[in-house]
Amino acid sequence: MQAMPASVRFVRVHFKGLLALSPPSTSHTLYSTSSSMVAQTSSRWATMMATSTVRRLGVEARGVLVVRQLSASASCSTLSYTSLCATEPEQERVSNGWNKRNFLGSGQQFTCREDFASPFFYIQQQQRRSMSTTGAAKKGLVAVEEARRFMVDCLVQANTPLAHAKQQADLLVEADYRGHFSHGMNRLEMYINDLHKNACNGKAVPSVLNETPATAWIDGNNGLGAVVGNYCMDLAIRKAKEVGVGWVCAKRSNHYGIAGWYTLRAMNAGCIGMSMTNTSPLASPTRSKEAALGTNPISVGAPGKDGDGFVLDMATTAVAVGKIEMQRRKNEPIPVGWAQGPDGHPTTDASVAFETACLMPLGGTELTSGYKGYGLGAMVEVFCGVLAGANYATKIRKWTHAGADSEADLGQCFVAINPACFAPGFEGRLSDLTSILRNMPMTDPNHPVLVAGDPELHHMAMVDKEGGLAYHVNQIKTCTELSERLGVKPIEVI
Ligand SMILES: NC(=O)c1ccc[n+]([C@@H]2O[C@H](COP(=O)([O-])OP(=O)(O)OC[C@H]3O[C@@H](n4cnc5c(N)ncnc54)[C@H](O)[C@@H]3O)[C@@H](O)[C@H]2O)c1
Repeated sequence: MQAMPASVRFVRVHFKGLLALSPPSTSHTLYSTSSSMVAQTSSRWATMMATSTVRRLGVEARGVLVVRQLSASASCSTLSYTSLCATEPEQERVSNGWNKRNFLGSGQQFTCREDFASPFFYIQQQQRRSMSTTGAAKKGLVAVEEARRFMVDCLVQANTPLAHAKQQADLLVEADYRGHFSHGMNRLEMYINDLHKNACNGKAVPSVLNETPATAWIDGNNGLGAVVGNYCMDLAIRKAKEVGVGWVCAKRSNHYGIAGWYTLRAMNAGCIGMSMTNTSPLASPTRSKEAALGTNPISVGAPGKDGDGFVLDMATTAVAVGKIEMQRRKNEPIPVGWAQGPDGHPTTDASVAFETACLMPLGGTELTSGYKGYGLGAMVEVFCGVLAGANYATKIRKWTHAGADSEADLGQCFVAINPACFAPGFEGRLSDLTSILRNMPMTDPNHPVLVAGDPELHHMAMVDKEGGLAYHVNQIKTCTELSERLGVKPIEVI
């Protein structure tokens, strides 16, 4: 073995302490491993930070400091590993999410006691702040599989074939699992109402309108968003494998949930994925006090080495409307810059914001470059509504909890790119990029730098640790009402 600088030995000792607690079945040899093996045995962001620091130690004194900080935090936060039940089938506890499958690939689960000094504590705080949709104080814990069961039962009861109900439920559960509660169970009632009003057809299957080796134009036939989206992304992936890139656009689709679901699908197949959708008007163009564009999310996902990756999944408004909805459900205010009141000025009242339905674009006002978010939202329309020949901007009907009275005809865009057609070693470089970013000097040692997708990873680990999805009590109430209305077995709270 090569002689190591003292600082590297310092890191070895630190991690040896952690790995000593891992189950004997694991065969990780920390010091000679690549960052990936370490990543598989610990919370990804923490180990990535440390292992890439190992690589850079001796070059940058700053790296040593980062590891020392991490070590200090670790020592006061009782880091430990718990082995998951060896007989438990992975499928039962692991969602379809790309990150999660890789994250838990080692069969271990990371647990930690929350400690004020710990960076993990910070992440949890960050979750609460940035996602603002987590369970908060009042919550009902529901097992992931029970949430899925409940969703499938409700959708089937609303005249949706089982296979379609499962696709839709998988998507909604994944949203909750990743911490985007606004786009999980919270959306179920709206889908059910749409199905009952025939604004959406649960039985519809997409059809191809035009196709070339690299492109396809799809008619979603007013089917469920997940059914149309899965079909389109799978087609894009197939084309990417054949000719390097697949670009698929759909018209006549419906609300497709978290945009990241589809990019994760592409990443699962070793591709770079991109996905966008237009949505009902909810955001005002800069200088307007009326909504013309939707929250029009964009997701780009790229696979790194051994479970690392970049999963950007974001609304082009300051937040997704669901977050305002969740604040309203919780009777809590919203921060300045999320939404406008009826006078066109920012409001902090979640109910006023929800009723006005006029979100601010990413960036906020013109002074804070909100026009860039407005530009991104309009760009989504170019690739979705305009390119697919679907509805766009103010032509899209409004959508409320009561459901819609007419077809949405949303436009959506799904892209898969095969990195093997470009410079060799994409995944390694991607992981190097994320390591560089995660290792950047912190403004606060308790607030580590993250890359897109890290907060969701941490949320998934937290759900596993807690043993279920922490729904707000009002969400459970809505589920109970839904079960009574549809005559399905009520959701079981742990
Ligand atoms: N289907 C629809 O109509 C629709 C519309 C809008 C939004 N959505 C979905 O709603 C969800 C929430 O959207 P959002 O914009 O509110 O998400 P968000 O603001 O919580 O996160 C946006 C992105 O930033 C990343 N991120 C968060 N904190 C970070 C940090 N400190 N450092 C680095 N990266 C960080 C996240 O990983 C994520 O990729 C998304 O899944 C989106 O697709 C869907």
